[in-house]
Amino acid sequence: MAGDTTGDTSAWLARVESKLAAITQADSPFVTDASHHILIAGGKRLRPLLVDLTSQIGDGPVDQDNLDSAALVVELTHVASLYHDDVMDEAVLRRGVESANLRYGNTVAILTGDYLFARASWLVATLGTEFVALQAETFARMVQGQIAEFKGPATGEDEMDHYLKVLSDKTAALISTSAMFGGMVANLDAPVLAALGRFGEAMGMAFQLHDDVIDITSDASGKSPGTDLRQGVTTLPILLLRRSEDPADKQLLASLGPGMTDEQVAETVAVLRAHPVLDQAREVVAGYARQADAELDILPQCAAKDALLALTAEMTN
Ligand code: IPE
Ligand code: IPE
Ligand code: MG
Ligand code: MG
Repeated sequence: MAGDTTGDTSAWLARVESKLAAITQADSPFVTDASHHILIAGGKRLRPLLVDLTSQIGDGPVDQDNLDSAALVVELTHVASLYHDDVMDEAVLRRGVESANLRYGNTVAILTGDYLFARASWLVATLGTEFVALQAETFARMVQGQIAEFKGPATGEDEMDHYLKVLSDKTAALISTSAMFGGMVANLDAPVLAALGRFGEAMGMAFQLHDDVIDITSDASGKSPGTDLRQGVTTLPILLLRRSEDPADKQLLASLGPGMTDEQVAETVAVLRAHPVLDQAREVVAGYARQADAELDILPQCAAKDALLALTAEMTN
């Protein structure tokens, strides 16, 4: 039956945790450990949560085993991509622990990502070909997003367009699929599923772009403010800044990157906090959040809808 929205969420998430650990038990303790290293280190479990919430829309019965499997598939796919992403980004920290590449080396980190993806593939097959097709399409988008990010904009391509397309493929695709998977488990009608897909896509963009804003605004994000600036990572505020003709902005841009001292980072963060590009960036995030919310107009008033709206609202804070 359709679940009650909030009451059982923590019990359900606990069950998802234990199923995640169980399904990644490998033939050797080493592979199990390498898989569990990032998988059970934490993470917000946003994608499983979306599956759960969207499964609660509608009045029809929901098969709990299928719901759990759909939630596991999206988290396993996500975590597999994190193992690979950390190799590519040479990251040292993930979910508050040593990255798998640092702990086990690149070869094991890559193959563990593959192992997790294989487990997701096995599980999604139990849900049916529509689920398999969507997951495969999603994974193809994620891979293409990562490649496009690595290659950078093509000659003559607008860098903002390129950036937004990268985010759409590498991040929003799986968030969109998570929103659809819950609806698919609940056998919702095609127009509602399509709306949930568009909701997830817009929410995924807001989610990722919000992260860009937080790098400048937040003292409590778990990362020090300005981490992206110091690493020379392209973010929305920086792309907006590159559109400015003001010589002071050009100078600011030239100062960014790996050579920055702690004082320079702090100073730049302070300047950007008061800079118009920050409000412009917030407005872009709010625009995606509004787009996401509008897709939910098709849904009847229900607790799950309120919870979905609350998730997008968090991104505009
Ligand atoms: C991190 O995703 C990678 C991106 C797509 C930005 P999350 O922010 O959902 O990471 P976890 O799952 O909570 O660790
Ligand atoms: C995360 O991308 C990986 C995927 C979305 C596949 P990023 O490299 O931008 O995110 P973090 O900062 O490592 O989580
Ligand atoms: Mg990364
Ligand atoms: Mg990356």
